[in-house]
Amino acid sequence: MNLILMGAPGAGKGTHAKDISKQFSIPHISTGDILREEVAKGSELGKTAKSYMDEGKLLPDDIIIEIIKGRLQEDDCKNGYLFDGFPRTLVQAQKLDTISRIESVIYLKCDDDILIKRLTGRRIAEDGRIYNIYFDPPPEGIKTYQRDDDNEETIRERLRIFYDTFTPIMEFYKKKNNFHEIRGDEDRTVVYENILSILKNIQKGR
Ligand code: AP5
Ligand code: MG
Repeated sequence: MNLILMGAPGAGKGTHAKDISKQFSIPHISTGDILREEVAKGSELGKTAKSYMDEGKLLPDDIIIEIIKGRLQEDDCKNGYLFDGFPRTLVQAQKLDTISRIESVIYLKCDDDILIKRLTGRRIAEDGRIYNIYFDPPPEGIKTYQRDDDNEETIRERLRIFYDTFTPIMEFYKKKNNFHEIRGDEDRTVVYENILSILKNIQKGR
């Protein structure tokens, strides 16, 4: 299955992508995670990425497309993949369309007030597990950190950019009849059940 999980910052893309990836044995490809790894390594790409990410701005499309082209050539993508945080502009969606066929796009829709609370409360463990001090607190003794872009000013800019860019991407996939919208602000298990029912329908329809 070639899938895209879409949603505003904090909608739960990373949270659910990890579970989908395990259950369906497909790689979880998060452009945000790839860029954060480059930042941590201190590579040239990481240095460029950091200057955009700290401001909540999107990186140029050509940089992101090169990353994706390379990643899709890796062996683990042969039986499908799940994108999280890509495509983020219409240009990225159009370019992706020329290199791969997407079976389903799932959009996690959430209200802004809950997104801000989720992002300011997000804590990440060393193994990548995502927690939340309000909704899913880390167990005692687990060391966690906060993302540099999870401060209120940057969060507002990330949300502004998301709403600025999202509609044309949604229209693009709606025309292809593979766009599914579900609420992302329900209980985590309910959201995951709703995702699963979409994915199981796709498998049945093959
Ligand atoms: P990226 O890493 O993609 O960040 P984002 O889109 O801002 O999304 P987040 O990771 O913040 O949210 P999420 O939806 O994954 O939420 P999560 O599951 O963690 O991008 C970062 C930056 O990289 C961009 O700003 C840009 O600079 C650059 N970039 C990346 N891709 C790019 C691209 N394609 N083009 C250009 N630039 C790009 O959940 C959030 C919190 O909520 C967690 O604490 C979680 O525990 C909690 N939570 C989740 N679901 C629930 C629930 N149902 N109930 C209660 N709590 C929940
Ligand atoms: Mg994420």
